[in-house]
Amino acid sequence: MTNLPRLYSGMQPSADSLHLGNYIGALLQWKELQSTHDAFFSVVDLHAITVAQDPAELREKTRRTAAQYIAAGIDPSASTLYVQSHVPAHAQLAWVLNTITGFGEASRMTQFKDKSARQGAEATSVGLFAYPVLMAADILLYDAEVVPVGDDQRQHVELTRDLAERFNSRYGDTFVVPQAMILKESARIYDLQNPESKMSKSAESGSGIVWLLDEPEVTRKKIMRAVTDTDGVVSFDRQGKPGISNLLVIYSALSGRSIESIELEYEGTGYGDFKKGLVEVVVDEFAPVRQRALDLFADPGELDRILAANADRASEIAESTLAKVYDRVGFLRRSR
Ligand code: TRP
Repeated sequence: MTNLPRLYSGMQPSADSLHLGNYIGALLQWKELQSTHDAFFSVVDLHAITVAQDPAELREKTRRTAAQYIAAGIDPSASTLYVQSHVPAHAQLAWVLNTITGFGEASRMTQFKDKSARQGAEATSVGLFAYPVLMAADILLYDAEVVPVGDDQRQHVELTRDLAERFNSRYGDTFVVPQAMILKESARIYDLQNPESKMSKSAESGSGIVWLLDEPEVTRKKIMRAVTDTDGVVSFDRQGKPGISNLLVIYSALSGRSIESIELEYEGTGYGDFKKGLVEVVVDEFAPVRQRALDLFADPGELDRILAANADRASEIAESTLAKVYDRVGFLRRSR
């Protein structure tokens, strides 16, 4: 269809609303990349059930996550945005890849080690263990060359490369060996109440998280109450002034202005004015996104149609890769 390089990424349907950290840390960069790449984005519900989920909530979060990506600017006619479970080939390829993944190799994945240590062996499922192999299947089904992810996913992309190369050398050239594109560290956003830790839905209190779907008045309050320091100077200093530095990064990412120009504008004014300026920038950015998301929530039929059409597009590619793989490993072809 296009000869742009193929790109693949996925996001967990993990909350009812995306937050400012997801928006700046990932979405804005994906939005940019979709004009230079043939981009595939999936809402990874198969991955989500590797930890316990309430079925009704999972369904709702899957819809809402997809809707918010569209609302924020992922264009479902330029990119392919779909729900992972709508394309059965993901689970099918994952099975084949499981059989060429070493037990020790999978055991070395640090995310698995952390999660399973936290949960204990009895509460840890085989699905959680195989999570990175499913992720490899996602990527390899589409011949993706580029995989934009946070640094925490780097090891999973490395595994994907190893599996692709192993399969290719065992069964003949089949997969494209992808490359991780690590998302900008500088775009990492911290909790407004606790600016030493990443903005994350698992924070103890929600008061430092700005949700995309928050009402403007709620956003205003959260920003005005953001933790700062006592020296009163609006300047970037990640170590010494983590609160103000975080707010400067947010301001800069959403306004497209340099941090220096923002520092200059607020020289000598104090934190109140700076925060008011930031409220305006955030609310201006989020208000139309929020409105589009609410419109999509209100019309689930339209959203479902978009997702179905995109799943069809994805399936066509995925099915053809899977057929090749089934052939290579020696499965008997079902006659028609
Ligand atoms: N594991 C990724 C995360 O938690 C999500 C993901 C699933 C993904 N499949 C993917 C990312 C394929 C990139 C490519 O962030």
